This record gives sequence, C-alpha cells and structure tokens, in this order.
Amino acid sequence: MCGIFGFTGKQDAAPLLLKGLSRLEYRGYDSAGICVVNGNNNFYIGKAVGKVMELRNRTEGVDLAGYTTGIGHTRWATHGGVTTNNCHPHTSSDGRFAVVHNGIIENYSELRTMLQNEGYIFYGETDTEVAAKLFEHLFDEDDFETLKKLTTVIEGAYALVFIDRENPNRLFGAKLGSPLVIGIKGDSCYVSSDYRSLIGTVEEYITLEDGDIFCIENGDYRIVNCEVELVRDKESITEKEQAMELGDFPHFMLKEIHEQGEVLRNVFAGRVDFQEKTIRNNTLDEIVAQGFERIHIIASGTSYHAGYLGKQYLEHLADLPTEVTVSTEFKYGKQFIDRKTLYIFVSQSGETADSLESMKIVNERGGYTFGIVNVPGSSISRLAKSGLFTHAGVEVGVASTKAFTAQIATFLILALAFGQKKDLEYTRFLSILEDMEKIPDRIETLLKTSDRIREVAEKYARYPNFFYLGRSYELPIAMEGSLKLKELTYRHSEAYSSGELKHGSLALIDADFPSIIINGSSPLHGKNCSSVQEVKSRGGKMIGIIASNDQKKDIYDDYLTFEASLPETEVFSEVVILQLFAYHMANALGRDIDKPRNLAKSVTVE
Ligand code: M6R
Repeated sequence: MCGIFGFTGKQDAAPLLLKGLSRLEYRGYDSAGICVVNGNNNFYIGKAVGKVMELRNRTEGVDLAGYTTGIGHTRWATHGGVTTNNCHPHTSSDGRFAVVHNGIIENYSELRTMLQNEGYIFYGETDTEVAAKLFEHLFDEDDFETLKKLTTVIEGAYALVFIDRENPNRLFGAKLGSPLVIGIKGDSCYVSSDYRSLIGTVEEYITLEDGDIFCIENGDYRIVNCEVELVRDKESITEKEQAMELGDFPHFMLKEIHEQGEVLRNVFAGRVDFQEKTIRNNTLDEIVAQGFERIHIIASGTSYHAGYLGKQYLEHLADLPTEVTVSTEFKYGKQFIDRKTLYIFVSQSGETADSLESMKIVNERGGYTFGIVNVPGSSISRLAKSGLFTHAGVEVGVASTKAFTAQIATFLILALAFGQKKDLEYTRFLSILEDMEKIPDRIETLLKTSDRIREVAEKYARYPNFFYLGRSYELPIAMEGSLKLKELTYRHSEAYSSGELKHGSLALIDADFPSIIINGSSPLHGKNCSSVQEVKSRGGKMIGIIASNDQKKDIYDDYLTFEASLPETEVFSEVVILQLFAYHMANALGRDIDKPRNLAKSVTVE
C-alpha cells in the first residue's frame, strides 16, 4: 500500500519521480505528490488527488530545472481521507523537511497529542505528518542522528524517505516492515518501494532490511543497522523494460491473461521433466525428504484461492491432510505450530503484511516455512526456510491472473512430487504429467474464443448479483472467478459449493439473479447438473463453464466451453474463461480495469 520513490543526482528529479510513481501506482492510486529541492534550498511541492496522471498535469509547465533531488508518493489511504492535505510528501512546521511514508505508525495518535501540546499545528490527519513534525521536534543539527532517534520513538511499520532543504543533495530514511530498495547508477541514486520500478533505469539494486537506516548523498550511500555500518549485497535486475509496457494490449490485465501459456512453460521448466516423465528439482527433493505429515497453507485473496486448490491437489494426489487459512485470520487465531507440518505461504508480491506477519510467527515458533512467491527478493521469499518462485514475471494489473495460474501449477508440481514418493499410482501420475504438458497450448487455443466469452459477458453485464458455483477442484475456481468479477466490475457475487446452495442461499434465486457453474469432467459432474436443475426450476438463469464434449449443454441458458481433459488440469482452462468473462464485463461497464476503485495490488498494511 502506497508507493514511494526518491532520486538524487545530477538530472532533474521531477520527470524521474513521475515515471517511478507511475510504475508504483499499482500500490495505491487515490492521490500522489512530489517534493523536489534545488541547489538554492528551495522546495517545490506538487500534490493531486487521483492518479499520477493528475499530478503530472499539475506539474506540467512548472519550471523544475535544477531541482535534482526529490521524493514522491502514490497513496492508498489508511489514515485520513483522500484529500490534498493528506497527500504525501508531508512537511515539518518550519518547512525544512519533507517525508514520504509507506506503512502505519501505530502510536501516531499519542505522538500527535504530544506534539500538539508542544505547539505544533497539523494541517491533515495522517500518521506521516506526525513523522514530519516529530523529526523537526527531535532535530539536533544532524539528519542521520535525528533519524536514529525518530526510529526509537515511532512504532509500527514504515519505509520512510526524507529530504532536507538545507542539504539538497541528500536522501535519508529508514525501513521496518515495509519494503524499500536503493538503486545506484553512476551519480544517479534512487530509492523505491519496488525494484521493478527501476527496470531499465539501473542494473543493480540493494534491498534494505528491517532496522536499516540509510543516507544517500552525492552518489554515495551508507547503511546502518543497530549502530553497525553495513555493506549489503547488490542484486541484478534481469527483467526487460517491455515487462512494464502494454505493447499492443489495451490493458495490462489482458496482456497478462495472454501471457499465461508462456508463464506455465516457465513454471514447468526445471521442475518437470516431460521427456523422462518425472518431477526433478532439488528444492522439491529436499522438502519431500523431510517427511512432513500435514500441510498448512496460509495466504490471502487470489493466493488463498490458489492455496485452496493446492489443498485439493495435496490431499487427492499426495494423501497429505491439508488445512488452508486466510492470513488475515491466522495471526490472530490460536496457532498449533508443530514440526511435522509444512507451512506454505503463497503470495504474488511476497510483501502482503498479513501473510508476512503470519510467517514470522511460524518462523519464531520453529515451524518449517515454505514460500510460493512471484517476486524474487521480496520479504516472504527471504524469510521462508525454502520455497519455489512462480516465475510469472511482473504482474502490473491489480487483478491477479497469471500469478494465480502460476501458483496453481506450482501446487500441482508440489503435489506430484510428494505423490511420486508416496502412494500415487504410477499410471495416474503419468496421465496427469502428460496432460500437464498440454496446458500452455490449450490456454493459447482457448484465448482465441475470447469473442464468444465477451458476448456472454456483455449479455449479463446488467445483472447486479451472481452466484459462482463449483465443487471439489472447481470450488476454488468459482471463488477466484467470483473475486475477479467483484473487483473488476463492482458487481456483487458469491462463490458457493454447488451442493451448499440448497441449504439457504437458494432463496435468493430469481430471474434477475444469474449463476455461473464451473462443471467440467469431474466425478461430481452429475451432482452439479442436479444443482443446475434446482436453480433453473426456481426461475434462475444458469451459465455453464463446461467441457466441449459435455452431453448436457441444453440445461444451461448459456455456456462457454473448453477442451476436455482431467479434473486436475481442466481448472486452468476454467479460470482463464472466468478471467476473460470478468474482464469483458468490466470493459462493457467502462470500469478502470487495471486499477479498480478502492484497491491496491500490494497490501503492505495489516
Ligand atoms: O501479493 P499477494 O498474492 O500476497 O496478495 C494477496 C491478495 O491481496 C491478492 O491476491 C489479491 O486478492 C489479488 N490481487 C486480487 O486479484
């Protein structure tokens, strides 16, 4: 939540900040601001409610030549409404310091009262403004020493970056809980919430650790943690600039949906040997050899749905009892951590605060943590004892698509790896493995039916409520399809086990409340057909997501088909149809597809 970006060097800072912020916009996009400083110790502060584009318009025509240091922020509001006053950067009362912040300062209310008693006047309601005023209050002529003092007083999670008007070539700040990286190329130094905002700008970056305090000045930097001066390793940026560009697609979501075939080839590479018909990977060998008796999967949102499908794979293919908990509940529930359980944390960003905090608890209590993460170098990937990357590449659209298919493919591989060493029948193992190889091509063929999916999506766009139904492997797909619809179209939808509908929710069904059932070739196909009849006989409309060889197509009002295969692999085609269905409906409704209202991609606050 919230993206921060800073620059100091010989170039004008404002255009670089605006470019960096637009790449960080996925982290929050309700308002944005910059503060730049020039060699004459002048600040220019620009703020705008809305997207970075609004800020760009606001600063256009302002002469910012010679302002070569600056900080910027794109906000997802946590404290205080979406107003210009609450927009970062925030300044000290004397106007000397400006700060941007990602995170939450938990004791801000006490600190604000203390500062008000000291005579400080606040213009907004944010916790960050408290940090700006507190810095001024603690200031003892040395930015770095004052910063150290500040970090002993504030509580919570933060990535903070300050500039000082009297030292116009300096960026300084601190990190605890929220991500922050430093990128340096020659005289040009950057700080950012996400190294991917620096793709094409620098070749290497440094990931700051919790407790780090840094200062960057004139092309040089220092990092101190617990009074110890440190040299942190540099990591290389391997992604190409195109990863951050739309190419010929109108939206990143559509681009990312189309990348799924290639993404899955990457997920399989180095793990599945299709020639030798085996799973081959050191991490998997090591994890299987540990002899875990149970699995506990912890994640949120789309990653939770992937975990829920992971449970089906692990139980059906590897005979491993598996529990799945949303990370938002895990931390505050009663945790029974034991050595026989493998704790799997699933996260696209690797920064989701709820998952990260839950992982810290398991680590502290001696549980074995395993990360299924997309972003290399992210906090969850670093804190996990071991793990697998999902290799989906940069996902820009707020709605996860390729990250999800990469996660479920990783779970399928994991379950087969465990199953291979346990009691999974070899013929079944073989048929799944052989079928897996076909998934990428199947997705690419399916994408060609997008027009038919669009027609059906447009036909149903006027309905305000939807049920998404499925069972067994197809229930998590229904859950994910429902989430896609909600976040993209702002239509209400609920996912249910199709069998569960009759236990109460069927009362909602009428001609204006359509349902979508995910009903491929599973052994529960017949039971799902009965659920369709229950809905139809109450006047409800039913859309089927079904295999092309389904003999019961006539029970649906509309249907969308995919090539029949195995229940374990059909889920990939099913979810792609639901992604496109939500995408096309959102498009028909004129929604902001890549940046749906009220959301942010990376949820770094609890
Ligand atoms: O980065 P994570 O996978 O940990 O994020 C968890 C959720 O916030 C995320 O999956 C969210 O539900 C999706 N972006 C929605 O499409």
